[in-house]
Amino acid sequence: MLTCQTRRDFLKTTTALGVSSLLPVTGFSQTVADTVIKRAIPGTSEMMPILGFGSSAAVEVLLKTGPASLTSILETMVKLGASVIDTAPRETDVEQAFGQLLLLPQFKGKLFVNSKVGRNRALNLKRVDKQGGINQIRETERLSQRNPADLILVDTMLDMDLHWPTLQEEKSQGNARYIGYTTSNTVDHEKMEGYMNTHQPDFIQVNYSLLEPEIEQRILPLARDKGIAVMINTPFGGGEYFKTVKGLTLPDWTAEFDCTSWAQFNLKYILSEPAINCVLTETTKTTNMEENLRAATGHLPDAEMRKKMKAHFDTLVKK
Ligand SMILES: NC(=O)c1ccc[n+]([C@@H]2O[C@H](COP(=O)([O-])OP(=O)(O)OC[C@H]3O[C@@H](n4cnc5c(N)ncnc54)[C@H](OP(=O)(O)O)[C@@H]3O)[C@@H](O)[C@H]2O)c1
Repeated sequence: MLTCQTRRDFLKTTTALGVSSLLPVTGFSQTVADTVIKRAIPGTSEMMPILGFGSSAAVEVLLKTGPASLTSILETMVKLGASVIDTAPRETDVEQAFGQLLLLPQFKGKLFVNSKVGRNRALNLKRVDKQGGINQIRETERLSQRNPADLILVDTMLDMDLHWPTLQEEKSQGNARYIGYTTSNTVDHEKMEGYMNTHQPDFIQVNYSLLEPEIEQRILPLARDKGIAVMINTPFGGGEYFKTVKGLTLPDWTAEFDCTSWAQFNLKYILSEPAINCVLTETTKTTNMEENLRAATGHLPDAEMRKKMKAHFDTLVKK
């Protein structure tokens, strides 16, 4: 089994991130084993917690339902030492409300926030021109009061010829610490591989799970060779994964790597691939966020166990 981070690593990273003041939390006795594992961003000494939050659904309802539920999800994340939040351009009032929430004292300075350029799913806007992309960056900066941005991504690699030079410029001017591009479609992996060879990003964001393991073949080895950090989206196939495992009993041997649910089975499979820097899980529920975060604590399966997990999952898919 791979072991979780050492106590020395834990103290070093919590001190560096200034999160030690979070401990202890009421009714919650926190130990090293309770803290999300961290991995270094390639080419840097910056440690990134390996599980984060894909924020779409919970954020879309923020103005309708109020901030309590989303605040609780984020507090759970921070409490367990996680920091990464994936965002994208939205309606102005929603983006502003979310930006303000992330500035609350319990979150300020403790988060790593991704933003994107190109699509605006909330407005059903599929593309923007070059100036439109620059405007999105300035607007996100203004509404969220964040500069520099931690990571700006070209959404789904659309109009890379327009937006990639913009992101390079933003990075060189100190407005973005890291830059990259995304896809969540396996059919676009070849296109992503091409860009990884010609447009060196700091991060890629791509789909990967037991349901969609394709990046193991070419994207992950290439990312490793080129020193590119990898973030994973759609780990549950937008919820599809749960249909496959619904009603099934988790095998006893999953206890060997501290796995207590089917959600963790999939997440621990993803997270035990060493080239993965962070998995973004989307949820509207604090309980699910905590369950997902706990997949990134304790032991992770080793290579032999991963094969066993994959073989077992494949028998379930065929049923
Ligand atoms: N091209 C792109 O840039 C791109 C595209 C797609 C996605 N993404 C990013 O990736 C993130 C995640 O992808 P996704 O939206 O497809 O979602 P996902 O994480 O694959 O799946 C979310 C679904 O899983 C359920 N779920 C989560 N944790 C669970 C648990 N422990 N137990 C049971 N059900 C659970 C959620 O329901 P509940 O709400 O009930 O928990 C929701 O229905 C997005 O939020 C976004 O940030 C990026």
